[in-house]
Amino acid sequence: MKYRFGHPYVTGAVVKEIAAAEGVPAHFTLSRKGESVTLSYPLAKEDAVYGLGEQLRGINKRGWHYENWNLDDPVHHEGRTGLYGAHNFFIVCGKECFGVFLDCGGRVSLDIGYTDADLFTVTAQDFDLYLFEGDSPLAIVKQFRALIGRSYIPPKWAFGYAQSRWGYKSEADIREVYEHYEKEGLPLDMLFLDIDYMERFKDFTVDKTRFPDLKAFTSEMKGKNIHLVPIIDAAVKVEKGYSVYEEGVKKGYFCKDEKGKPFVVGVWPGNSLLPDMLNPEARKWFGSQYKVLLDMGIEGFWNDMNEPVLFYSEERLKNALALAASTTEITCLDDYERVSHTFFGLQNNDGDYRAFYHETENGRIVHEAVHNLYGYNMTRAAAEYFEQYTPKKRYLLFSRSSYIGMHRYGGIWTGDNSAWWSHLLLNLQQLPGLNMCGFLYTGADLGGFGGSTTEELLLRWLALGVFVPLMRNHSNLGSRPQECYRFTKTNVFRNILGIRYSLLPYLYSEYVRCAFENDMLFKPLSFVYPGDARAKTVEDQLLVGDSLMIAPVYTQNAAGRYVYLPERMKLIRMKAGDRFTEHVLEKGEYYIPVSTEEVVFFLRFGKVLPLAKPAKNTAALDEKNLTWVKFIEAPTQFTLCRDSGTSEIKKGDFETVLLEP
Ligand code: GLC
Repeated sequence: MKYRFGHPYVTGAVVKEIAAAEGVPAHFTLSRKGESVTLSYPLAKEDAVYGLGEQLRGINKRGWHYENWNLDDPVHHEGRTGLYGAHNFFIVCGKECFGVFLDCGGRVSLDIGYTDADLFTVTAQDFDLYLFEGDSPLAIVKQFRALIGRSYIPPKWAFGYAQSRWGYKSEADIREVYEHYEKEGLPLDMLFLDIDYMERFKDFTVDKTRFPDLKAFTSEMKGKNIHLVPIIDAAVKVEKGYSVYEEGVKKGYFCKDEKGKPFVVGVWPGNSLLPDMLNPEARKWFGSQYKVLLDMGIEGFWNDMNEPVLFYSEERLKNALALAASTTEITCLDDYERVSHTFFGLQNNDGDYRAFYHETENGRIVHEAVHNLYGYNMTRAAAEYFEQYTPKKRYLLFSRSSYIGMHRYGGIWTGDNSAWWSHLLLNLQQLPGLNMCGFLYTGADLGGFGGSTTEELLLRWLALGVFVPLMRNHSNLGSRPQECYRFTKTNVFRNILGIRYSLLPYLYSEYVRCAFENDMLFKPLSFVYPGDARAKTVEDQLLVGDSLMIAPVYTQNAAGRYVYLPERMKLIRMKAGDRFTEHVLEKGEYYIPVSTEEVVFFLRFGKVLPLAKPAKNTAALDEKNLTWVKFIEAPTQFTLCRDSGTSEIKKGDFETVLLEP
């Protein structure tokens, strides 16, 4: 059922037209304050709330308040209320079970038992509300995913291991990282180029002194089965003679202020303009800029700073500088606070998001009303151009900021996390919510982006990362270097990365199946064992695909952890290669010893797991000779996806294997 409130901007999140019903969905009571609509739902003791994609806190979102307003927050601890993506889909499950998608390009506030422990309120302006009824959360997810269209499938090499860092400044730096991986026998498929490959952080340019011939370098690396993946930022530098800037200004493709002048903001390149990603012509134009890099043989990109981030707006900065200049003396705390707040308030200021406009198909619209759609449309711009550049070819594409709908065009990484144990757990807890919202290709910066990682934290994080589609180790400029060869136990890193490649036939096949069947790759235990009250409270274990359950260690100095088995399972312990030990455990609670030198997981009863031999990259993976781990008492099937890895997947690419006990 669909209900309309106010005059929503059509976001393109849903792919099927549904006529709006009259009135208010029966589950809610409605109140209005000015333009805002608040829907309230009384929570029963047993109600859990799932979803919200990339959000903070646990798998069950009850007990906190959230703001879905895309924001760059590099220190997102649990006191915050929102992150880089706005994914307004949730399921309430308890005394009844229903799902809601609030299709709204602007701010959405959710108070899920925060102000009043037994009340759930959602507040927004101008939105379409879709209501889903079903017997189980998974049945609701499947209905919702059918409405929003098939999830993006990246090329197979994008399931390999990726090394990245802000700070690789030149071809020589990248080459050095590659050589270390090669010399140490550490598997690798991708190396990322952060903003330093550009000329003064200008999109679609290459700094010739640091990368004299990126085309030749890309091809050389591809010969070694390594893909180079450059970053693209949302804002375009203001600079005379820079063709992207000049052409965009000439054609009127940048966001403008109230008076129709391009709205100047500050990001990495200094003064910059924001391409109007919501203007269909401008979007097409921005997408076509990727050609420069595609022509150099680049096959993957990460889109960044597209919340969009505003370090400042030109106008607000001017006023702040004037205030500072006129403040010759600080005589009291008030003086100090006035100046400091003015400067701290420059970044991502709400007033600035109200001060520029988009030229959409339906006329001019203030950014604030469509803020959450910006990164989505940047990624859409790229994906639509790739389809035109080489039809049906799969490119790697993922974005920092996102909205539901973008899951059809690319994946996401979960932004600037920190080298904190709590962010390892957050990584796990975000996965089911993201999958519910269609984002299957996701990953966090393994080891943590900010701060100083440790060998132990990185090893534990990789032991989760081996199961996650985007397996990328990325870190901040100036942080402790965290490439896998930087620590003492290089052989352990080699083994853990090798396990990722052993798991790839399973992960890839399950990923593709989930995309086609609107399924979730990562499920909370409660989705699979609905009658099990204990399963409902588990916040640190997940089902991965149809066969596996994971329970990663996420605390410092742990020798293992407690794990809840909702049914009889086989404990699988992998240390190196495709070798493993197996051990049957009955349903129940266990303390499982897990060292940092192994990956431990569980095989469900009635299920099988294909394992390949570890490989140095996805191209070298032998997917013909698989070892099958089985926990079956009757013949069981598993469907492998054996496509080329880069073209459109067809029916004939699947092979169903029959396994005997
Ligand atoms: C942003 C990105 C981060 C990147 C940095 C420099 O903080 O989130 O991944 O390394 O910008 O481009």
